[in-house]
Amino acid sequence: MTTAPIHVPAPDAGALLASYLEAFSEDRGYLNFARFGPPSRAVVDTSARLMETAMAGEVGVGKALDVQTLRAREAFARVSGFPLDRVALVPNTSLGLFQAAFGLESGSVLISSGEFPANLYPWLRNNRIGRAGVHVMGGPGVHVTPDLVAGAMSAETVAVAVSAVDFRTGFRADLAGIRDVIGSDRLLAVDGIQAFGAVDVDWSPADVLVTGGQKWVRAGWGAGGMAFSDAGLERIQPVLGGWTGVVDEHVHDGTEHETRPDATRFSISALSPFAAGAFASALELIESASVARIEARIASGVDALIGCLDEAGVGVLSPRERADRGGIVVARVPGGRAAQAHAALEAEGISATLHGEDRIRLSVHATTSHEMFPVAALFCGR
Ligand SMILES: Cc1ncc(COP(=O)(O)O)c(C=O)c1O
Repeated sequence: MTTAPIHVPAPDAGALLASYLEAFSEDRGYLNFARFGPPSRAVVDTSARLMETAMAGEVGVGKALDVQTLRAREAFARVSGFPLDRVALVPNTSLGLFQAAFGLESGSVLISSGEFPANLYPWLRNNRIGRAGVHVMGGPGVHVTPDLVAGAMSAETVAVAVSAVDFRTGFRADLAGIRDVIGSDRLLAVDGIQAFGAVDVDWSPADVLVTGGQKWVRAGWGAGGMAFSDAGLERIQPVLGGWTGVVDEHVHDGTEHETRPDATRFSISALSPFAAGAFASALELIESASVARIEARIASGVDALIGCLDEAGVGVLSPRERADRGGIVVARVPGGRAAQAHAALEAEGISATLHGEDRIRLSVHATTSHEMFPVAALFCGR
């Protein structure tokens, strides 16, 4: 007798996205994901459950908590597209960027002075202590394009550091194009925090990618990821690697152990298991919907918000083309009245970031309701 195979229908794309969307409950006026992304119920539950496990303090609790690190690394490897042995966890983006910067001994690193300071100080500090130098290109508001990089490069340049999406302009860098112009002899260091989890970027041009979990990944603070190409792992020295970055880290015999062969050689100490578990839950939720579907929804939200700003006669300073942007929309506030407009937005229940005297940064995620867009546009224009 032959039995008919049991057909289990795969959940359709709409259902997968719907259950992703249902996991969140931020206020309808929350337009500030570039500042931080309110986490999902799954993240909150994971953190609470792990805290309770720690609180109970039963035999084996250490191991039960430690597994979160591997779970988070595995999820970060899958979402970033890098193999597991090429990824490590970091407590925040800055520390990963310090790891990348301090790993370069000589030559010069090309970077825009318009980068968020988290992606400036590590390179500047490394220069200060007499290791790789810094060569500045562009400036605040100048897009880091392959042409800009090509024009600024010199024989000294050993690496280029750039944000995948710029925190100020919302401009999405052409990582493949930059890779093309710098060739394979130079390293490409990418601060991914304004894109990771929300923009379907091919991260493979990066030799070192660093991201934190608190913004578009919506994991809360305390964990992020770092990923390396073969060249990145070979040429960036783990000068800040600590006791958890060496072989036999649990053998405390008073000798200096060899650094690990994989990306975990950059580990300084054990990461918080609460943060690692939260990061893993957030990444698994992203995977369940797919970054591409999340990006598509963000893109239509951004289109709608730009439409409202246009209708209200408010200047849009961020890119309009989908290929050049992520979830950030920058409104120009006339007459240097950005602080007043920002206060008015808050009074209307809208969260956004004030950038100087004439700009307000709004940012949209897949879960963002379009309901408050006309109100946001109206108050940015006043
Ligand atoms: C481009 C960029 N890099 C890094 C950070 C933050 O770095 P960290 O995770 O160290 O707080 C931010 C945001 O605040 C950012 O916009």
